[in-house]
Amino acid sequence: MSIYSRIAGTGSYLPEKVLSNHDLEKMVETSDQWIQERTGIKKRHIAEAGQTTCDLAEQAAARALKAAGKTAQEIDLIVVATTTPDKIFPSTACLLQQRLGNHGCAAFDIQAVCTGFVYAMGVADKFIKTGAARTALVVGAETLSRILDWNDRGTCILFGDGAGAVVLEAADKPGILSTHLHADGAYEELLHVPGGISRGFDMEADGADPHFMQMKGNEVFKMAVNTLGRIVDETLAANGMKKSDIDWLVPHQANIRIIKATARKLSMDMDNVVVTIGEHGNTSAASVPLALDTAVKDGRIKRGETLLLEAFGGGFTWGSVLLNY
Ligand code: COA
Repeated sequence: MSIYSRIAGTGSYLPEKVLSNHDLEKMVETSDQWIQERTGIKKRHIAEAGQTTCDLAEQAAARALKAAGKTAQEIDLIVVATTTPDKIFPSTACLLQQRLGNHGCAAFDIQAVCTGFVYAMGVADKFIKTGAARTALVVGAETLSRILDWNDRGTCILFGDGAGAVVLEAADKPGILSTHLHADGAYEELLHVPGGISRGFDMEADGADPHFMQMKGNEVFKMAVNTLGRIVDETLAANGMKKSDIDWLVPHQANIRIIKATARKLSMDMDNVVVTIGEHGNTSAASVPLALDTAVKDGRIKRGETLLLEAFGGGFTWGSVLLNY
């Protein structure tokens, strides 16, 4: 008999500190109106000094375990998607494992920037389908505020910190119907943090600080819209499904205009699209599980419904997960 993975529980966590668009008006030349019109963002949450990605992940994971009715000891795989790990090593997944009091299960991080959670779901699903794991904790967690140039109005208004998690368990029917993961490294320079451990942190030729994110927003925007349109088609075709078979679109929360374009592609009413960007901006790998948990907890998403999760991010990377909740 085939093994599938299904979502047993979801959880999320946002740090307490809130940074509104009005707060940003005092930091860079921008306005609440510009940010809301161009992005849909009203505010974002920012981790306190000393509050790390693992701290956020721990809260989200504990909530997902509680919702799933599972103990940390039952987990046999931990995958954390993050671009902002606490340490160079050990992985944030190992740090999280220690916090949860689990000893011995496989634990590793995945780096696919904003597509990280979708990648992590793809990997965990395959572990469960092959029988290598029965209960997987999949987390997307970020303190993206730490890699932002707070003087760059083109990037600092877009991002925030947060974490989301799901517990996947083995089941005899889906659950996850398919996952689709892609990357094209040719677009490296449209969205990147130039510095790194191996390359070093020498100043850029143009004087830009290599610790911080650089983005060609307009070009990223166009690529995201086109690419997400294609992944919707690919996912439906792979499952022999029609647009109308999807109950909920749970998109990466990057920009309300990108989300609306993907919904149009699916001929989907915005009432069936989970939109949380206004409340927390783009939280990178945390954004899809944060949106998922929000709509599960407020009762919009119900058991038995069909969900399309999708994301696009630096790399470029992009992907989708189609599932019966
Ligand atoms: N406040 C006010 N004005 C701003 C601004 C801000 N925060 N940021 C940029 N501007 C200005 C620009 O300087 C430009 O001015 P100019 O016409 O005088 O040169 C003008 O607004 C238009 O800039 P542009 O970059 O063309 O705007 P846009 O409509 O493309 O919106 C983004 C900019 C960043 C909101 C948009 O491109 C975007 O969301 N891109 C995708 C980013 C993303 O999602 N990245 C993560 C992917 S996972």
